[in-house]
Amino acid sequence: MSLISQQNLTVIKKETSRVNDVDFSNLTFGKEFTDHMFECDYKDGTWLEPTIRPFGPLTISPGAKVFHYGQAVFEGMKAYKDDQGKVWMFRPHENIKRMNRSSKRLAIPEFPPEIFLEALNTILRMDSEWIKPGFGNSLYIRPFVIATQSGVAASESTEYKFMILLSPAQAYYKGEVRVVIAEHYSRAADGGVGAAKAAGNYGAQFYPTNLAKEKGFQQVIWTDSNEHKYLEEAGTMNVFFRINDTLITAPTSDRILDGVTRKSVIALAERNGIKAEVRKITIDELLAASNEGSLMEIFGAGTAAVISPVTAFSYKDQVRQLPQLEDSFAMRFKNELMGIQYNKAEDPFGWRYEVH
Ligand code: COI
Repeated sequence: MSLISQQNLTVIKKETSRVNDVDFSNLTFGKEFTDHMFECDYKDGTWLEPTIRPFGPLTISPGAKVFHYGQAVFEGMKAYKDDQGKVWMFRPHENIKRMNRSSKRLAIPEFPPEIFLEALNTILRMDSEWIKPGFGNSLYIRPFVIATQSGVAASESTEYKFMILLSPAQAYYKGEVRVVIAEHYSRAADGGVGAAKAAGNYGAQFYPTNLAKEKGFQQVIWTDSNEHKYLEEAGTMNVFFRINDTLITAPTSDRILDGVTRKSVIALAERNGIKAEVRKITIDELLAASNEGSLMEIFGAGTAAVISPVTAFSYKDQVRQLPQLEDSFAMRFKNELMGIQYNKAEDPFGWRYEVH
Protein backbone atom coordinates (compact mmCIF):
# COMPACT_ATOMS: atom_id res chain seq x y z
CA MET A 1 0.00 0.00 0.00
CA SER A 2 1.24 3.49 -0.74
CA LEU A 3 0.50 6.56 1.34
CA ILE A 4 0.01 9.82 -0.51
CA SER A 5 -0.96 13.13 1.04
CA GLN A 6 -3.34 15.08 -1.19
CA GLN A 7 -4.32 18.69 -0.47
CA ASN A 8 -6.57 17.83 2.45
CA LEU A 9 -6.77 14.07 2.28
CA THR A 10 -4.58 11.17 3.24
CA VAL A 11 -4.74 8.49 0.56
CA ILE A 12 -3.73 4.88 1.11
CA LYS A 13 -3.92 3.04 -2.21
CA LYS A 14 -4.80 -0.59 -2.60
CA GLU A 15 -2.05 -2.47 -4.39
CA THR A 16 -4.13 -4.68 -6.63
CA SER A 17 -7.58 -3.81 -7.87
CA ARG A 18 -10.47 -6.28 -7.70
CA VAL A 19 -12.13 -4.72 -10.71
CA ASN A 20 -11.36 -7.62 -13.04
CA ASP A 21 -12.96 -10.12 -10.65
CA VAL A 22 -16.38 -8.51 -11.01
CA ASP A 23 -19.00 -9.53 -13.58
CA PHE A 24 -20.29 -6.13 -14.68
CA SER A 25 -22.95 -7.68 -16.88
CA ASN A 26 -24.69 -9.26 -13.91
CA LEU A 27 -24.70 -6.86 -10.95
CA THR A 28 -27.02 -7.02 -7.98
CA PHE A 29 -27.70 -3.47 -6.80
CA GLY A 30 -25.44 -2.44 -3.93
CA LYS A 31 -23.67 -5.79 -3.50
CA GLU A 32 -20.18 -5.10 -4.88
CA PHE A 33 -17.99 -2.34 -3.53
CA THR A 34 -15.00 -0.76 -5.23
CA ASP A 35 -11.38 -0.89 -4.07
CA HIS A 36 -11.46 2.18 -1.83
CA MET A 37 -13.58 3.94 0.76
CA PHE A 38 -13.48 7.37 2.35
CA GLU A 39 -13.48 7.75 6.10
CA CYS A 40 -13.39 10.70 8.49
CA ASP A 41 -13.93 10.64 12.25
CA TYR A 42 -15.40 13.32 14.47
CA LYS A 43 -14.06 13.69 17.99
CA ASP A 44 -13.67 16.48 20.55
CA GLY A 45 -15.81 18.81 18.49
CA THR A 46 -13.94 18.49 15.20
CA TRP A 47 -13.65 16.36 12.07
CA LEU A 48 -10.23 14.71 12.06
CA GLU A 49 -7.96 13.44 9.29
CA PRO A 50 -10.02 12.66 6.13
CA THR A 51 -8.65 9.46 4.62
CA ILE A 52 -9.22 7.28 1.58
CA ARG A 53 -8.12 3.71 2.16
CA PRO A 54 -8.78 0.21 0.83
CA PHE A 55 -12.36 -0.99 1.33
CA GLY A 56 -12.54 -3.24 4.37
CA PRO A 57 -14.14 -3.94 7.74
CA LEU A 58 -14.35 -1.43 10.59
CA THR A 59 -13.71 -1.95 14.26
CA ILE A 60 -16.45 -0.23 16.24
CA SER A 61 -17.51 -0.70 19.86
CA PRO A 62 -20.73 -2.69 20.26
CA GLY A 63 -21.73 0.15 22.57
CA ALA A 64 -21.70 2.65 19.67
CA LYS A 65 -24.87 4.72 19.70
CA VAL A 66 -25.71 3.93 16.10
CA PHE A 67 -26.44 0.34 17.14
CA HIS A 68 -28.78 1.38 19.94
CA TYR A 69 -30.49 4.52 18.73
CA GLY A 70 -30.04 4.45 14.97
CA GLN A 71 -28.34 7.84 14.86
CA ALA A 72 -27.34 7.61 11.20
CA VAL A 73 -28.04 9.41 7.92
CA PHE A 74 -27.02 8.68 4.37
CA GLU A 75 -27.14 9.95 0.80
CA GLY A 76 -27.49 8.36 -2.63
CA MET A 77 -25.62 9.80 -5.62
CA LYS A 78 -24.27 8.44 -8.89
CA ALA A 79 -21.26 8.86 -11.18
CA TYR A 80 -21.42 8.18 -14.91
CA LYS A 81 -18.78 7.68 -17.61
CA ASP A 82 -19.24 9.19 -21.07
CA ASP A 83 -17.98 7.72 -24.36
CA GLN A 84 -14.73 9.73 -24.08
CA GLY A 85 -14.03 8.24 -20.65
CA LYS A 86 -14.84 11.42 -18.70
CA VAL A 87 -16.56 10.91 -15.36
CA TRP A 88 -19.55 13.00 -14.28
CA MET A 89 -21.74 13.43 -11.25
CA PHE A 90 -25.28 14.79 -11.26
CA ARG A 91 -26.03 17.85 -9.09
CA PRO A 92 -23.65 16.72 -6.30
CA HIS A 93 -24.03 19.99 -4.40
CA GLU A 94 -27.70 19.17 -3.82
CA ASN A 95 -26.81 15.90 -2.09
CA ILE A 96 -24.05 17.53 -0.08
CA LYS A 97 -26.51 20.15 1.19
CA ARG A 98 -29.22 17.57 1.89
CA MET A 99 -26.79 15.37 3.83
CA ASN A 100 -26.10 18.26 6.16
CA ARG A 101 -29.82 19.03 6.50
CA SER A 102 -30.40 15.38 7.44
CA SER A 103 -27.49 15.46 9.89
CA LYS A 104 -28.83 18.57 11.57
CA ARG A 105 -32.22 16.89 12.11
CA LEU A 106 -30.51 13.85 13.68
CA ALA A 107 -28.28 16.04 15.93
CA ILE A 108 -25.19 14.99 13.94
CA PRO A 109 -22.49 17.62 13.27
CA GLU A 110 -22.45 18.87 9.69
CA PHE A 111 -19.59 17.75 7.44
CA PRO A 112 -17.51 20.41 5.62
CA PRO A 113 -18.91 20.56 2.04
CA GLU A 114 -15.50 21.31 0.48
CA ILE A 115 -13.94 18.18 2.01
CA PHE A 116 -16.99 16.14 0.95
CA LEU A 117 -16.55 17.33 -2.64
CA GLU A 118 -12.79 16.79 -2.63
CA ALA A 119 -13.29 13.28 -1.24
CA LEU A 120 -15.80 12.52 -4.00
CA ASN A 121 -13.49 13.81 -6.73
CA THR A 122 -10.49 11.92 -5.38
CA ILE A 123 -12.13 8.55 -4.74
CA LEU A 124 -13.96 8.67 -8.09
CA ARG A 125 -10.67 9.34 -9.88
CA MET A 126 -9.02 6.47 -8.02
CA ASP A 127 -11.84 3.98 -8.70
CA SER A 128 -12.84 5.24 -12.16
CA GLU A 129 -12.12 1.81 -13.72
CA TRP A 130 -15.22 0.63 -11.86
CA ILE A 131 -17.46 2.96 -13.87
CA LYS A 132 -18.46 1.37 -17.15
CA PRO A 133 -19.64 3.58 -20.01
CA GLY A 134 -23.03 3.06 -21.61
CA PHE A 135 -26.60 4.03 -20.68
CA GLY A 136 -27.69 2.28 -17.52
CA ASN A 137 -24.20 1.67 -16.11
CA SER A 138 -23.21 3.84 -13.20
CA LEU A 139 -21.39 3.93 -9.92
CA TYR A 140 -23.76 4.34 -6.99
CA ILE A 141 -22.21 6.58 -4.33
CA ARG A 142 -23.22 5.99 -0.74
CA PRO A 143 -22.08 8.65 1.74
CA PHE A 144 -23.22 8.05 5.31
CA VAL A 145 -22.56 9.11 8.91
CA ILE A 146 -22.90 6.95 11.99
CA ALA A 147 -22.73 7.71 15.71
CA THR A 148 -19.68 5.87 17.07
CA GLN A 149 -19.43 6.97 20.71
CA SER A 150 -19.75 4.00 23.02
CA GLY A 151 -22.49 4.34 25.63
CA VAL A 152 -26.17 3.53 25.90
CA ALA A 153 -27.34 6.76 27.49
CA ALA A 154 -30.14 7.97 25.22
CA SER A 155 -28.53 11.17 23.99
CA GLU A 156 -26.67 12.18 20.89
CA SER A 157 -23.17 10.85 20.31
CA THR A 158 -20.08 12.99 20.71
CA GLU A 159 -18.21 10.88 18.13
CA TYR A 160 -19.08 10.05 14.52
CA LYS A 161 -17.71 8.39 11.43
CA PHE A 162 -18.44 9.85 7.99
CA MET A 163 -17.83 7.47 5.10
CA ILE A 164 -18.26 7.20 1.35
CA LEU A 165 -18.62 3.83 -0.38
CA LEU A 166 -18.91 3.22 -4.11
CA SER A 167 -20.85 0.40 -5.71
CA PRO A 168 -21.14 -0.37 -9.44
CA ALA A 169 -24.80 -0.38 -10.46
CA GLN A 170 -27.25 -1.03 -13.23
CA ALA A 171 -31.06 -0.80 -12.99
CA TYR A 172 -32.47 -0.80 -9.46
CA TYR A 173 -35.74 -2.42 -10.53
CA LYS A 174 -35.06 -5.09 -13.11
CA GLY A 175 -38.71 -6.05 -13.78
CA GLU A 176 -42.12 -4.50 -13.31
CA VAL A 177 -42.87 -2.11 -10.46
CA ARG A 178 -46.29 -2.83 -8.97
CA VAL A 179 -47.24 -0.85 -5.88
CA VAL A 180 -49.63 -1.08 -2.94
CA ILE A 181 -51.16 2.12 -1.59
CA ALA A 182 -50.69 2.20 2.19
CA GLU A 183 -53.87 1.97 4.26
CA HIS A 184 -52.42 1.22 7.68
CA TYR A 185 -48.65 1.64 8.00
CA SER A 186 -46.87 4.99 7.67
CA ARG A 187 -43.41 6.01 6.60
CA ALA A 188 -43.30 9.41 8.28
CA ALA A 189 -45.31 11.78 10.44
CA ASP A 190 -45.57 15.54 10.85
CA GLY A 191 -42.68 16.80 12.95
CA GLY A 192 -40.77 13.57 12.37
CA VAL A 193 -37.73 12.74 10.25
CA GLY A 194 -39.39 11.85 6.92
CA ALA A 195 -37.68 14.71 5.12
CA ALA A 196 -34.25 13.56 6.33
CA LYS A 197 -32.41 10.66 4.76
CA ALA A 198 -32.33 8.94 8.12
CA ALA A 199 -31.34 5.28 7.99
CA GLY A 200 -34.30 4.34 10.20
CA ASN A 201 -36.81 5.74 7.67
CA TYR A 202 -35.81 2.92 5.35
CA GLY A 203 -35.45 0.16 7.94
CA ALA A 204 -38.97 0.87 9.21
CA GLN A 205 -40.38 0.21 5.74
CA PHE A 206 -39.00 -3.31 5.36
CA TYR A 207 -41.79 -5.05 7.27
CA PRO A 208 -44.78 -3.43 5.50
CA THR A 209 -42.94 -3.68 2.16
CA ASN A 210 -42.46 -7.41 2.76
CA LEU A 211 -46.22 -7.74 3.29
CA ALA A 212 -46.69 -6.07 -0.11
CA LYS A 213 -44.04 -8.32 -1.67
CA GLU A 214 -45.84 -11.42 -0.41
CA LYS A 215 -48.79 -10.27 -2.51
CA GLY A 216 -46.65 -9.73 -5.62
CA PHE A 217 -45.90 -6.01 -5.31
CA GLN A 218 -42.45 -4.43 -5.19
CA GLN A 219 -43.16 -1.18 -3.38
CA VAL A 220 -45.59 0.74 -1.20
CA ILE A 221 -46.86 4.23 -1.96
CA TRP A 222 -47.02 5.84 1.44
CA THR A 223 -49.97 7.99 2.41
CA ASP A 224 -50.16 10.68 5.09
CA SER A 225 -50.08 9.29 8.61
CA ASN A 226 -53.11 11.27 9.84
CA GLU A 227 -55.81 10.11 7.46
CA HIS A 228 -54.15 7.82 4.87
CA LYS A 229 -55.82 10.04 2.33
CA TYR A 230 -52.99 11.77 0.46
CA LEU A 231 -50.46 10.02 -1.80
CA GLU A 232 -46.96 10.94 -0.72
CA GLU A 233 -43.82 8.94 -1.54
CA ALA A 234 -42.78 5.41 -2.52
CA GLY A 235 -40.21 3.44 -0.55
CA THR A 236 -37.09 4.27 -2.54
CA MET A 237 -38.35 7.14 -4.69
CA ASN A 238 -40.63 10.16 -4.99
CA VAL A 239 -43.76 9.53 -6.97
CA PHE A 240 -45.46 11.28 -9.92
CA PHE A 241 -48.99 10.84 -11.27
CA ARG A 242 -50.06 11.79 -14.78
CA ILE A 243 -53.76 12.60 -15.15
CA ASN A 244 -54.54 13.42 -18.78
CA ASP A 245 -51.45 15.47 -19.67
CA THR A 246 -50.86 17.00 -16.26
CA LEU A 247 -48.14 15.76 -13.97
CA ILE A 248 -48.85 15.85 -10.24
CA THR A 249 -46.46 15.27 -7.35
CA ALA A 250 -46.83 15.91 -3.64
CA PRO A 251 -45.19 19.02 -2.17
CA THR A 252 -42.16 18.46 0.04
CA SER A 253 -42.95 18.59 3.74
CA ASP A 254 -41.77 17.14 7.04
CA ARG A 255 -42.88 13.80 5.67
CA ILE A 256 -41.43 13.85 2.16
CA LEU A 257 -37.87 13.71 0.92
CA ASP A 258 -36.75 16.65 -1.22
CA GLY A 259 -35.54 14.35 -4.02
CA VAL A 260 -32.92 15.59 -6.49
CA THR A 261 -34.45 13.49 -9.29
CA ARG A 262 -37.90 14.74 -8.25
CA LYS A 263 -36.95 18.38 -8.67
CA SER A 264 -35.09 17.61 -11.90
CA VAL A 265 -38.24 15.99 -13.35
CA ILE A 266 -40.30 19.06 -12.41
CA ALA A 267 -37.76 21.28 -14.20
CA LEU A 268 -37.71 18.99 -17.28
CA ALA A 269 -41.53 19.01 -17.40
CA GLU A 270 -41.55 22.79 -17.38
CA ARG A 271 -38.95 22.87 -20.17
CA ASN A 272 -41.09 20.45 -22.20
CA GLY A 273 -44.19 22.61 -21.75
CA ILE A 274 -45.80 19.90 -19.61
CA LYS A 275 -47.96 21.21 -16.81
CA ALA A 276 -46.46 20.04 -13.51
CA GLU A 277 -48.55 20.60 -10.40
CA VAL A 278 -46.84 20.35 -7.04
CA ARG A 279 -49.82 19.81 -4.79
CA LYS A 280 -51.53 17.32 -2.57
CA ILE A 281 -53.22 14.48 -4.40
CA THR A 282 -55.79 12.22 -2.75
CA ILE A 283 -56.43 8.52 -3.26
CA ASP A 284 -60.01 9.47 -4.24
CA GLU A 285 -58.69 11.66 -7.05
CA LEU A 286 -56.47 8.83 -8.26
CA LEU A 287 -59.32 6.30 -8.18
CA ALA A 288 -61.69 8.70 -9.97
CA ALA A 289 -59.08 9.30 -12.68
CA SER A 290 -58.50 5.56 -12.98
CA ASN A 291 -62.28 4.96 -13.26
CA GLU A 292 -62.76 7.56 -15.98
CA GLY A 293 -59.65 6.53 -17.91
CA SER A 294 -57.69 9.75 -17.41
CA LEU A 295 -54.98 8.21 -15.21
CA MET A 296 -52.24 7.74 -17.77
CA GLU A 297 -49.10 7.05 -15.72
CA ILE A 298 -47.58 6.65 -12.30
CA PHE A 299 -43.81 6.65 -12.00
CA GLY A 300 -41.18 6.86 -9.32
CA ALA A 301 -38.15 9.16 -9.44
CA GLY A 302 -34.99 8.65 -7.43
CA THR A 303 -31.23 8.37 -7.73
CA ALA A 304 -31.10 4.58 -7.50
CA ALA A 305 -34.39 3.99 -9.34
CA VAL A 306 -33.86 6.83 -11.91
CA ILE A 307 -37.40 6.92 -13.43
CA SER A 308 -39.33 3.70 -12.78
CA PRO A 309 -42.77 3.33 -14.36
CA VAL A 310 -45.41 1.72 -12.19
CA THR A 311 -47.38 -0.89 -14.09
CA ALA A 312 -50.16 -1.53 -11.57
CA PHE A 313 -51.38 -0.38 -8.17
CA SER A 314 -53.49 -1.96 -5.50
CA TYR A 315 -55.80 -0.21 -3.06
CA LYS A 316 -58.04 -2.08 -0.61
CA ASP A 317 -57.04 -5.31 -2.38
CA GLN A 318 -58.34 -4.08 -5.71
CA VAL A 319 -55.65 -4.11 -8.40
CA ARG A 320 -55.70 -1.65 -11.28
CA GLN A 321 -53.43 -1.84 -14.30
CA LEU A 322 -51.91 1.31 -15.79
CA PRO A 323 -52.15 1.75 -19.57
CA GLN A 324 -49.02 0.87 -21.56
CA LEU A 325 -48.12 3.99 -23.51
CA GLU A 326 -45.91 4.22 -26.59
CA ASP A 327 -44.63 7.69 -25.75
CA SER A 328 -44.84 7.96 -21.97
CA PHE A 329 -43.74 10.96 -19.93
CA ALA A 330 -41.70 8.51 -17.82
CA MET A 331 -39.62 7.39 -20.81
CA ARG A 332 -39.27 10.95 -22.09
CA PHE A 333 -37.93 12.18 -18.73
CA LYS A 334 -35.71 9.14 -18.32
CA ASN A 335 -34.09 9.69 -21.71
CA GLU A 336 -33.64 13.41 -21.15
CA LEU A 337 -32.23 12.89 -17.69
CA MET A 338 -29.83 10.18 -18.80
CA GLY A 339 -28.81 12.24 -21.84
CA ILE A 340 -27.65 14.95 -19.44
CA GLN A 341 -26.13 12.53 -16.91
CA TYR A 342 -24.09 10.63 -19.55
CA ASN A 343 -22.96 13.80 -21.36
CA LYS A 344 -24.87 12.89 -24.50
CA ALA A 345 -27.19 15.92 -24.50
CA GLU A 346 -27.05 19.65 -23.84
CA ASP A 347 -27.20 20.54 -20.16
CA PRO A 348 -29.16 23.82 -20.11
CA PHE A 349 -29.54 23.65 -16.33
CA GLY A 350 -25.85 23.18 -15.50
CA TRP A 351 -26.59 19.95 -13.60
CA ARG A 352 -23.61 17.96 -14.82
CA TYR A 353 -20.40 18.10 -12.76
CA GLU A 354 -17.16 16.82 -14.24
CA VAL A 355 -15.02 14.81 -11.84
CA HIS A 356 -11.50 16.18 -11.74
C1 COI B 1 -31.46 6.49 -3.56
O1 COI B 1 -32.09 6.62 -4.61
O2 COI B 1 -30.30 6.85 -3.44
C2 COI B 1 -32.10 5.91 -2.39
O3 COI B 1 -32.09 6.48 -1.35
C3 COI B 1 -32.65 4.58 -2.52
C4 COI B 1 -31.88 3.65 -1.67
C5 COI B 1 -32.58 3.45 -0.38
C6 COI B 1 -31.58 2.37 -2.38
